[in-house]
Amino acid sequence: MKAKIEAYLQEIQTSTVDKMDDLETFRVKYIGKKGLIPALFAEFKTVAPEDRKEIGVLLNDLKQAVLAKVEEAKEMLENLVQHLESGNDLTLPVNRDLGSRHPLSLVRKQIIEIFSRIGFTVEEGPEIEDDWHNFTALNFPEEHPARDMQDTFFIEKSPDIALRTHTSSVQVRVMENNKPPVRSIFPGRVFRNEAISARAHCIFHQVEGLYIDENVSFADLKQTLMYFAKEMFGEHTGIRLRPSYFPFTEPSAEMDISCHICGGEGCNICKYTGWVEILGCGMVDPNVLDNAGIDSKKYTGFAFGMGIERITMLKYQIKDLRLFFENDIRFLKQFESAI
Ligand code: PHE
Repeated sequence: MKAKIEAYLQEIQTSTVDKMDDLETFRVKYIGKKGLIPALFAEFKTVAPEDRKEIGVLLNDLKQAVLAKVEEAKEMLENLVQHLESGNDLTLPVNRDLGSRHPLSLVRKQIIEIFSRIGFTVEEGPEIEDDWHNFTALNFPEEHPARDMQDTFFIEKSPDIALRTHTSSVQVRVMENNKPPVRSIFPGRVFRNEAISARAHCIFHQVEGLYIDENVSFADLKQTLMYFAKEMFGEHTGIRLRPSYFPFTEPSAEMDISCHICGGEGCNICKYTGWVEILGCGMVDPNVLDNAGIDSKKYTGFAFGMGIERITMLKYQIKDLRLFFENDIRFLKQFESAI
């Protein structure tokens, strides 16, 4: 009898009950009135008194195993029925919404691709910077307002450690660590202590460009930027350079592109001027080259820096910069088809 009980136990444990019909067959087979277990209990009466204790325990365990199996299968099958009734078809393939690239990532990728095609490599620098790389080596005078607490997020005072306020800090690092020719762009996050509005944020993104070699001229800068503007905004885009000032470039300029929305006719994007500003640029100031260990008598170079948010806003006609940081699915979903 012991062997029989063990054989049944094995059978019960390995049997699968995954249909309502199977469940009833299983139940009747083992614990129905004429089932195997009542038959065993009947047989138990014939067991020798000295074996009763052992066999009794085994028999009860067997019965418990059947009851547990019935309970378990019942619960599983009821859940399944509930799912099916609720309209959930568990056999359907998983159909999740796929994510999409963030518009800022899309535009950064595009900028990198455009400059890669003309031989620019990509470099990065740290977001936490010292005063030397963010200001001093870049020719910022001691009392320049940009060093002020109002613009810069300081982490430590004397020596000054701060969140970089622009990617121009990477210019210095790349010049310190490389011999010319240098031809690179540096995408990255920058930080300024500004009130958040539709047009400004305390965290934003820039792409910096740096080209240093013998005989690099302003004409090279202009040609490079014109190529960029046409690749980014379309073949008919025109550029305009206005004189400007940055401590680290001389001469310096700001570049406008002809308004790609109205084609120069005048609209509210270009504020009826036909032009929109997209970046700052200039010839690297000889002081900066010398500060970073590059011989300014032998080498010249140009640099430029643009805000990724600004380019993205122009490209996709986004009116409020805060949308980039809110992660609202309704906004992000609109870029699903962009590559
Ligand atoms: N760093 C400047 C800014 O943040 C942009 C710039 C970069 C200007 C390189 C000239 C050359 O506004």
